[in-house]
Amino acid sequence: MLRRIGVFDSGIGGLTVLRQLRRAFPQLDMVYLGDLARVPYGGRSVETITHYAADDVRFLLRFDVDAIVVACGTVSSNAMDALRGRFALPIYGVIESAAARAAAVTRTGCVGVIGTQATVKSGAYERHIRTIDPDIRVVGQACPLFVPLVENGIAADDPVAEIITDRYLSAFDAENIDALIMGCTHYPVYRPALEKRLPGVTMIDVGEALADALRSELGPGEGDGRVEYYVTERSAAFDQVVRIMDAAVDPADIKVENNFI
Ligand code: DGL
Repeated sequence: MLRRIGVFDSGIGGLTVLRQLRRAFPQLDMVYLGDLARVPYGGRSVETITHYAADDVRFLLRFDVDAIVVACGTVSSNAMDALRGRFALPIYGVIESAAARAAAVTRTGCVGVIGTQATVKSGAYERHIRTIDPDIRVVGQACPLFVPLVENGIAADDPVAEIITDRYLSAFDAENIDALIMGCTHYPVYRPALEKRLPGVTMIDVGEALADALRSELGPGEGDGRVEYYVTERSAAFDQVVRIMDAAVDPADIKVENNFI
C-alpha cells in the first residue's frame, strides 16, 4: 500500500498532475519538486533531460517515498527506461494512460498531440496509441512557447496566449482530429484557449488520465494527505505563476532547495 509519493516536473506545470493525484488519492502524502532553476527541459537533448530527471528523483528519495510520478511529458517520453533502470522503486509516467484514453475516445480515428519539442520528436504518444490501435492516425505539434508563457504567469485569457494558441493549433485545421492530448503538463492552464480554438475536440489531461489509472491499479493508499512543495528556484514571476496554476497552495509554503543540481 502506498503511503508517500514523490512527484516532479521541470517546472510548475506538474501541479496540474498533482491536483489530479490529490483528487484520486486524498489520503496519500506527496512531495512535489519543480526544477524551476533549469526549466524548460523540452528543447534539450535526451542525455540532458535524463540527467536532470535523475537529479530530481534522487532528491525525492530523501523523503522516503514509495513511488515516483513523473509529472512531466518531456521526461515521461524521453527518460523512463533510463530512470527505471537506475532506480529500484516504481516510477510512473504520463504517456500510457493518456494514450489509452485517447484511443478509447476517438471516433474519427485521428488524434492530435501537443507537447514540447522533445516530446513530439520522441514519438512516444504515437507509439503507445498505435500499439493499442494501429489504425489511429496521430498528428503531433510542438508548442515550445507555452511553457515559458506559463512560467511567466501569462494566463489563458491573455491575448498573447490566444495568438500563440491560434498559430500552433492551425496545424490541425486540415486534420480530422476529435481528441487532443495536452501532452505537456503545463498545457491544462491553457485549456480554455485550446477549447475555444478547437471546439468539439475532446481535451485529454494527462494528469487526470494518470491519476485515474493509478487509482484503479493501486487502490486508495494510506497516509495523512500531507503535501510538501519544493522548487529549485523562486523565479521573478513566481507568485503569479502559482496563482494561475490554481494549485490551492500558498506560494509562501513552497520551499527552495537546490543543493542537488
Ligand atoms: N511540464 C513539462 C512537460 O510536461 C514542461 C517541459 C519543459 O520543461 O519544457 O513536458
